[in-house]
Amino acid sequence: MPRLHVNIDHVATLRQARRESQPDPVAAAVLCELAGANGITVHLREDRRHIQDRDLRVLKETVKTTLNMELALTEEMIGIALDVLPDEVCIVPEKREELTTEGGLDAAACLADLEREVPRLREAGIAVSLFVDPEPSAIEAAAKCGADFVELHTGCYANASGVEKENELKRLDTSARYAHEFGLRVNAGHGLDYDNVQAVAALPFLEELNIGHAIISRAVLIGLDSAVREMQDRILSADTSEE
Ligand code: PXP
Repeated sequence: MPRLHVNIDHVATLRQARRESQPDPVAAAVLCELAGANGITVHLREDRRHIQDRDLRVLKETVKTTLNMELALTEEMIGIALDVLPDEVCIVPEKREELTTEGGLDAAACLADLEREVPRLREAGIAVSLFVDPEPSAIEAAAKCGADFVELHTGCYANASGVEKENELKRLDTSARYAHEFGLRVNAGHGLDYDNVQAVAALPFLEELNIGHAIISRAVLIGLDSAVREMQDRILSADTSEE
């Protein structure tokens, strides 16, 4: 079964609404781990709209499971990753005006940059993932630049319904197999919630699910501990019999 990484960005979003110190994403990370999360994910955005540099540094000292930093492919962010040394990084496309990461990285278009930066990160002992749409060209580019993982963007699946949803799930399944054939490890995330997570958790070769908004939203109502445990239960009870 895939491991659950909780994305705690939106704890910081709430804090930044008042630019004060509460709620503290570091405390949230501890609670997520105590509730059984297998990893903590944060996105240090260029505009610092939620997670701040200090959060990342304190999380590096306090996270006991796996710390995954999402970052844009910029000199500044690569420099911070090489300085802080999270366990994993996930390279994502980033636009200032977007509400959340909208699409996967166009890995083929930025292949030259990836071929330069991915080895630097790996040589520093950081596992490198690329957040990509479930498309062959992106997976091929991820293999070419020596990434360890692809994180398949599940947003289209999450937003679809009916036959379209089935087709999106098939696209994820085909892409997970394709990435595995290329020697890539496979993660997934974006838009996953308590209702749609099980079909994705049952995909072949999947190692990690990165889930943020659904868990933090539920936590506001029922508490973080219960919200994380409920999501873990859904993942662990996904039906993988067709794998
Ligand atoms: N994976 C990546 C690469 C992301 O950028 C995000 C959003 O920050 C997520 C997963 C989590 O998405 P959501 O908040 O919709 O669960």
